[in-house]
Amino acid sequence: MEDKFLWWKDGIIYQIYPRSFSDSNQDGIGDLPGITARLDYLHDLGVDAIWLSPVYPSPQADFGYDVSNYVDIDPVFGSLKDYDNLIRAAHKRKIRVIMDLVLNHTSDEHPWFIESRKSRDNPYRDWYIWRDPSPRGHEPNNWYSIFGGKAWKFDPATGQYYLHLFHEKQPDLNWRNPKVQKAILAVLKFWLDRGTDGFRLDVFNAYFKHPDLPDNPSTKWGLRGYERQDHIYDGDQPEMIPVLQQFRKLMDRYAERYSVGETFYATPEKAAFYSGDDRLHAAFNFTMLESKWDSQSYLKAIKEWDRVAGKMVWPNYVLNNHDNPRTVTRWKDNEDDRRAKLAATMLLTLRGTPFLYYGEEIGMRDIKLKRSDIMDPPGKKYWPFYKGRDGCRSPMQWDDSSQAGFTTGRPWLPVHHNHKTRNVVAQSKNEHSILNVYRKLIDLRRRSIALQRGDFALINQSNPNCLVYQRKHTKQCMLVALNFSQRPQIVKLDLAGSDKWVEIFSTHTLQKAPDSLSTLKLESSQAAIFELQTAK
Ligand code: GLC
Ligand code: CA
Repeated sequence: MEDKFLWWKDGIIYQIYPRSFSDSNQDGIGDLPGITARLDYLHDLGVDAIWLSPVYPSPQADFGYDVSNYVDIDPVFGSLKDYDNLIRAAHKRKIRVIMDLVLNHTSDEHPWFIESRKSRDNPYRDWYIWRDPSPRGHEPNNWYSIFGGKAWKFDPATGQYYLHLFHEKQPDLNWRNPKVQKAILAVLKFWLDRGTDGFRLDVFNAYFKHPDLPDNPSTKWGLRGYERQDHIYDGDQPEMIPVLQQFRKLMDRYAERYSVGETFYATPEKAAFYSGDDRLHAAFNFTMLESKWDSQSYLKAIKEWDRVAGKMVWPNYVLNNHDNPRTVTRWKDNEDDRRAKLAATMLLTLRGTPFLYYGEEIGMRDIKLKRSDIMDPPGKKYWPFYKGRDGCRSPMQWDDSSQAGFTTGRPWLPVHHNHKTRNVVAQSKNEHSILNVYRKLIDLRRRSIALQRGDFALINQSNPNCLVYQRKHTKQCMLVALNFSQRPQIVKLDLAGSDKWVEIFSTHTLQKAPDSLSTLKLESSQAAIFELQTAK
């Protein structure tokens, strides 16, 4: 019973940025019918769930992260009927569907905010955070917006400021108002009743602010004002836990539902604190999004997360998402996929849910944009110091046709010029492509109880260029060896001499494995997996 496959724990979750995945009506923007049409591809890849970045009605000031109606679909993405079709078609293939819930703020075009800003005594006034100017006529406190500038916008109609931790078109909800909490629970219920399998909660730990809104201490240097402060009062308030408990109670009334929080300013400790049986199922730890290409920095990230998570919290690993440059671009790998294959082997053999970001499986690179093509609000604000997040949001590369099979119209962001060779069709035909490496690894994980549930055990060895670990389960033991350097490496392992290991996966030509793994020779950037043979 304990070993029964649980999709969000043992499976793999694939993030889709819907605008950029597949366009069914050729308006240049990806949509829900487009995703439905690609489910067979996702099924063949072997993923267990898809997480959709927001598809609700939205003025798209932050590309869907500014929601103007929580219980409908934006016409640009389709309709509720298209959503129901997607759910049905996904479930037929045993693929779960996770919705992105953006509940820290709404759009300023949400009817709640339209009401709220009308007058100081409007019944919705207290659904948002309004304050008088300071005695000297300035912002109510020193808080900054993550997207640039102060976190307060003055509204002349009523002579007060409203708080927005993100774009000024994203006013923060007042979570201290019980009516807000009740309305949001109804939103969760709406999607659960439609068959939605889970939620990704956008910046959930920012919902509550300190009731007195004190100034944050300014302690460090940073490009953005936001980075210069210690965020003591504008996030991580104790009131968060009872709300998560209410969410969880509701979700537990349905079978096998899942919630994963986007931990804002995440640390492993914070992510662990917010996850557990009476709160979120999981919360993101993003350490690997920032790790340098170096075995020791990954090792540190893994050891720390594994230790902090312990037995009570189920970890997760993320190499890419819609807010950060793609790893292969960050590592400046040009068109070389060797490191990406090694990283895939690591991601898919660790103890914790692997999250993939669309296009990662074909090694998509970020596009480069001219200033005039930038769409992302923080990119517009901080160019050229920070160019925003458009780079990692370019259209999925399905084939070598002029718009990569994403659309025949004009795509909302340019397609990467490398799509002529880097695309799903071409890579499917090439046994050694990164796509086929992902497919093999996913298949291996699916069939391996050790890779799903086994303990993580580091193998002590003295070569700092390499990372070697075991995944140990009572029924199976796997050994993973990763050479982070560009040169061949020798690794001396202290393993029981009588054990017999069989190589079951390698990014390089399979070697006849030595019977005992006392000395291992790894080629440049090689990743290999061995299974311990038990006496039958
Ligand atoms: C989260 C999202 C990001 C969005 C922001 C505001 O960080 O991942 O894309 O801009 O929240 O909702
Ligand atoms: Ca479309």
